[in-house]
Amino acid sequence: MAIKLSEKYLSEDIKAKKQEIKTEIENAFKITANKEGKGNDFLGWYDLPDRYQTQEFKEIKESAKEIRSMCDVFVVIGIGGSYLGARAAIEFLKGQMFNSFRGDAPEIYFSGNNISSASINDILKVCEGKDVCVNVISKSGKTVEPAISFRIFREFLESKYGKEEAKKRIFVTTDKARGALKTIADKNGYKTFVVPDDIGGRYSVLTPVGLLPIAVAGCDIDAMLLGAKAAKDAFTSLPFEENDCLKYAAYRNILYRNGKKIELYASYNPCFALMNEWLKQLFGESEGKDGKGILPDSVIYSTDLHSLGQIVQQGERNLFETVVDIVNSDSKTAVPFDVEDFDELNYISGRQMHDINRIATKATAIAHTEGGVPNIILELDKADEENFGYMVYFFELACAVSGYTLGVNPFDQPGVEAYKANMLALLGKEGEKYDNIRKELNINL
Ligand code: PA5
Repeated sequence: MAIKLSEKYLSEDIKAKKQEIKTEIENAFKITANKEGKGNDFLGWYDLPDRYQTQEFKEIKESAKEIRSMCDVFVVIGIGGSYLGARAAIEFLKGQMFNSFRGDAPEIYFSGNNISSASINDILKVCEGKDVCVNVISKSGKTVEPAISFRIFREFLESKYGKEEAKKRIFVTTDKARGALKTIADKNGYKTFVVPDDIGGRYSVLTPVGLLPIAVAGCDIDAMLLGAKAAKDAFTSLPFEENDCLKYAAYRNILYRNGKKIELYASYNPCFALMNEWLKQLFGESEGKDGKGILPDSVIYSTDLHSLGQIVQQGERNLFETVVDIVNSDSKTAVPFDVEDFDELNYISGRQMHDINRIATKATAIAHTEGGVPNIILELDKADEENFGYMVYFFELACAVSGYTLGVNPFDQPGVEAYKANMLALLGKEGEKYDNIRKELNINL
């Protein structure tokens, strides 16, 4: 279990700048570790791996077992940090076709992360004639997208099973005391799990927010937390020179200061697609404020070498790539030998696809670096639970340190409110705040 940062595809000039930024990075790490920076009441994730063995952790495993025995379909309702981590973990560990190869687990669908009528209707269709459980996740308990979805699925469950049986099939993850969802859960006697006060949505995958759906999928959440603990022990104690997490934070900031305003997260494994989305939220929401921030984008190669590959190789030189290179794979498929060899592939017959994929990784890193796109390579041992936990902690710490180095509060997201307020005003929500927005926008309902 490990992540290793390779500097092989970074220029001597960029590598030399690491010494110049070292003190800034060390200071940013110190204010993270000592909880002295902006947003320091949201640092609960920092020592979470040291104290995860709680009564609630046991209950997550018990509820997961119960859900697995009770339903064919498990609907996870949430948006942003309230769903991305769980979905990323399940796809990373079980693959994108999880629902086809799920073994004893129920099919898992994610709802409430958009307002598309077609999307929710598709999930409702899947639920027809099947036993269903729901986990609704919202820290604030008032986010519109999951709230609408939960209304729909509550109605579905209550009309299918009646109120009493529906009650046993609804699992709520929300604030311990506040919010509409907490009120609904208390009033109806739903089983609840708590989103810790001191952990924001995008840092919450290793809390009940992510762990319940991940455990329902059949993943080993103990191993995941052990992986996170190993990362914490390593990256909070190693000196800068040996600390790949701090070096990653350093290189991102160096590249940004050198005009590289876009970070393209790249993986050569489709199982990483949702991890890319999780990374985009983590870094985009944490750093993009006060007129600053690297824009995170993502690709799955070699697929996207046949679409975005062109602009990456020869477009405006304003980006760098962070490649998560999964070194080992248990999946074995070799290229077959063909006597006729019309496609001229016999020269690689017998070779494992995983090895060919890693050669593509290397070839692309060489081409993109030569094309003016610096590559940070993060070698990850393999796609298992321990490595997932390790990787999550690596990126969370790197993000906090990176954000403080950039001079922003990595734990708030004030910009997310603007669209929400306008949408609620346009929908006719009552209240002075919304009246004022309507006046400002000159809208008469
Ligand atoms: O990272 C965040 O804080 C956000 O992405 C939230 O998770 C997202 O907006 C959902 O919020 P809530 O859990 O309150 O419904």
